[in-house]
Amino acid sequence: MNSCSFRSARGMLAALAACVTLMAATSTMAQTPAQIQAALDKALADYKDVKEGKNADYIPALAKVDPNIFGIALVTADGKVYTAGDVASEVSIQSISKVFTMARVVEDLGPQSIVDRIGVDATGMRFNSIVSVEVAQKELGGPEINPLVNPGAITATSMVPGSSRAEVWKKILDTHSDFAGRPLSVNKEVFDSEAATNQRNQAIGALMFAYGFIKNDPAQATDVYTEQCSISVNAKDLATMAATLANAGKNPVTGKQVMKPGNVPGVLAVMATAGLYDDSGKWLYRTGLPAKSGVGGGIIAVSPGKFGIAVISPPLDEAGNSVKAQKAIESISNALGGNPYATTVTRR
Ligand code: DON
Repeated sequence: MNSCSFRSARGMLAALAACVTLMAATSTMAQTPAQIQAALDKALADYKDVKEGKNADYIPALAKVDPNIFGIALVTADGKVYTAGDVASEVSIQSISKVFTMARVVEDLGPQSIVDRIGVDATGMRFNSIVSVEVAQKELGGPEINPLVNPGAITATSMVPGSSRAEVWKKILDTHSDFAGRPLSVNKEVFDSEAATNQRNQAIGALMFAYGFIKNDPAQATDVYTEQCSISVNAKDLATMAATLANAGKNPVTGKQVMKPGNVPGVLAVMATAGLYDDSGKWLYRTGLPAKSGVGGGIIAVSPGKFGIAVISPPLDEAGNSVKAQKAIESISNALGGNPYATTVTRR
């Protein structure tokens, strides 16, 4: 007899109550599949003609990416996939990779390692700010940044355990692939282009070494970081990665437990406070969603227990966040009740 069967009227009522509770606990979405698909289709139609923003061009290869790519994907925490627009085109993952390398470090060295070596506080400054490192060191007296800005991200990459560059790189690429649910690879043109022009990140790596945050070869850390930013992804890959975070670290499409459930909330907390850089507060105010952007044009967002969503559209705003991706995710999440702070339950 399963938990939803019954033998008498009273038993029936009890079983019904149990069933309702069970359904509430196991169903990730209140909406029907048609309603979810309609939310994606509406966002695509509403924002496809938005012309604001501009491709990143400080990495020369990114300026050449088609600005009209507009792909939307949502993966529910129970593994159902919804898409709209161009989900075939791939872009480089860029800063979104910082989330998954942070996850690798947390898995290998524990959550406290991030607090001790990097910090978990928003800087309120640009993602590649050198001033934020100086302020942390000179005025705040220690690791007071976070793994989602470049200085913290290059440090996180340096913390991934491995006896050679190849071993560290394999761990990072495998982690990204496990979250995406398929073997990912690097866009070599983007990697070469950024490696030839990343002198600022090299300086940041050297500074983090000088202040003792990076404890091994900073040039290697910066190079591996640059390669991880060049991993090629489509909107469905990114949404599956986000959905794995929404589903307590278990990829809901492949069923693989990619990280420990207890390690997920800390990653989401840093995404909430610093995922959209100096616009993180504005984003959280509007959506309540932990999220992460990349200058390739992708943004992922996580509605814990419900869904992961990703949108790709290369033109960026001043803070380095995709204009259309922000609009589309906000619209879809609001339509689906994705804001984790927005409960409709009241009690006496
Ligand atoms: O290090 C960089 O500048 C790039 N590889 C990544 C920056 C980035 O994606 C910031 N995102 N909004």
